[in-house]
Amino acid sequence: MAARLPDAATEPARLHEAMRYAALDGGKRVRPLLVYATGDLVARQSGSSPDAATNTALDAAACAVEMIHAYSLVHDDLPCMDDDDLRRGKPTVHRQFDEATAMLVGDALQAQAFLALVELPARSLHAGLSELGRAAGSLGMAGGQAIDLAAVGQTMTREALEGMHRRKTGALLAAAVRLGWLAARTDEPVPEALQRYASAIGLAFQVVDDILDVEGDTVDLGKTAGKDAAQNKPTFVSVLGLEHARTLAHSLADEAAGALATLGPGAERLASMADLIINRKH
Ligand code: IPE
Ligand code: IPE
Ligand code: MG
Ligand code: MG
Ligand code: MG
Repeated sequence: MAARLPDAATEPARLHEAMRYAALDGGKRVRPLLVYATGDLVARQSGSSPDAATNTALDAAACAVEMIHAYSLVHDDLPCMDDDDLRRGKPTVHRQFDEATAMLVGDALQAQAFLALVELPARSLHAGLSELGRAAGSLGMAGGQAIDLAAVGQTMTREALEGMHRRKTGALLAAAVRLGWLAARTDEPVPEALQRYASAIGLAFQVVDDILDVEGDTVDLGKTAGKDAAQNKPTFVSVLGLEHARTLAHSLADEAAGALATLGPGAERLASMADLIINRKH
């Protein structure tokens, strides 16, 4: 990923330094790992290891989703959104640099993500660009964030909450799986079972994030714990309670496992990603 970002010495150096601060050195890298786990499924199904072009395409897709994700975190932490001081165990970008720089870091990382994706093979480029655009845009992450901000202090039905979470977080995780497939296999549409897996783990990820906001501590999380309640955000914990939120996370994990079972052998890495998403502590 470092090679796909402008060097910190390139002008405007402060912006490039801040982009690298936001995107490198930190984070669990769940979305890139999903890209590679899906690439592994394709390789195992076809019985051959990926060639150099496929590896480049997987790297491009992995970097692209992580850049969109890193940008979404920088903006999510801004004072006009969640107003957070700590991210990935470090001061947030607007704290370390300044607010205008943090805004521009997000803008530039988003553009950089699409530049990274241009390395996809020609046959899957169009589908890949649409996939990432949809996941990041107003019907995906950005739209989910808009709903999140409008929901402060409101009560939400479970259905509405699920819709918000699927957009703000689920869409990009699901896109990581679909982009992994597109990068590794250009000749066949994404299987329906893989889509079901992607949609289940995408929602589960934010359910667990809501649980960790209540159960985790700031040092382990690398971000401020207890923010959702402090800011009066409807979450799966506030709407369902902790126990039911946990039950929901586990039933989504079962749904993901059930979908993988129908895909045949080769999905082990995707199965361990589902475990990691459900059982993570940060
Ligand atoms: C946090 O995402 C924000 C959400 C979408 C819930 P991650 O938990 O993947 O954050 P990093 O990348 O590991 O820092
Ligand atoms: C953020 O959700 C989702 C994004 C699109 C960034 P949260 O606001 O719950 O994420 P954290 O808890 O700050 O990481
Ligand atoms: Mg938020
Ligand atoms: Mg936040
Ligand atoms: Mg959260």
